[in-house]
Amino acid sequence: MEITLKTSEEIAKMRVAGRLAAEVLEMIGPLVQAGITTEELDKICHEHIVNVQHAIPAPLHYKGFPKSICTSINHVICHGIPSEKKLKEGDIINIDITVIKDDYHGDTSKMFIVGKPSILAERLVKVTQECLYLGIKQVKPGAYFGDIGAAIQQHAEQHHFSVVREFCGHGIGRIFHEPPNVLHYGKVGTGPEIIPGMCFTIEPMINAGKRHMKMLADGWTAVTKDHSLSAQWEHTLAVTETGYEILTLRTEEQALIS
Ligand code: MF3
Ligand code: CO
Ligand code: CO
Repeated sequence: MEITLKTSEEIAKMRVAGRLAAEVLEMIGPLVQAGITTEELDKICHEHIVNVQHAIPAPLHYKGFPKSICTSINHVICHGIPSEKKLKEGDIINIDITVIKDDYHGDTSKMFIVGKPSILAERLVKVTQECLYLGIKQVKPGAYFGDIGAAIQQHAEQHHFSVVREFCGHGIGRIFHEPPNVLHYGKVGTGPEIIPGMCFTIEPMINAGKRHMKMLADGWTAVTKDHSLSAQWEHTLAVTETGYEILTLRTEEQALIS
């Protein structure tokens, strides 16, 4: 399958789906507190997506995934399954939301810190968010996907963190995961050229320790092999004639992005 270019009508639909996904993260933020279970967070997001947004939570039953959101705590890299486990003081948690509205997907995630984090946890979360923004800044017609990966890898490694290799960003549209694979490491000037109308995610997973991962027996939960902390942030973007549009931008970020 090839990389598809979206028409402006399709991008308008992606914009709606992206805004809804961002809005779920805005809605759930105040509830991410010590004592709540990730299953409760899943239920609240599910109800909001289905009953308020009249949209579909894309993860539910996707390739057999059992829940509507992914919740990845501490050493979990990604695809954590909501459970009866309660959040506790000092946890860092990624919540990953994908909604389908009018056939199009919006996919975004952010880190939340429960109470007071360790200095390492705070640095990891911040550097990983910077990695996402540095990757995004590479996006413009005529640049290459390798430029995104190189910017992310450079920043993570400069801070003595490592980039997970087993998962990547992806093209997105009517299909949840479509070409290209958007690597979070690599070399400037390599990979496909970036062209207006492309829509894709950037979603770096950065570990405080070594880059290697281990899959748990549930077949979904990816954890760091060395049990070090891991963080991830994700946006869905559309390539414009001059650069990019972040389709999943949250209100809290509008000042942050320059
Ligand atoms: N939202 C994830 C991504 O960023 C994919 C989750 S698939 C699931 O691509 F099945 F685990 F939910
Ligand atoms: Co994604
Ligand atoms: Co996602």
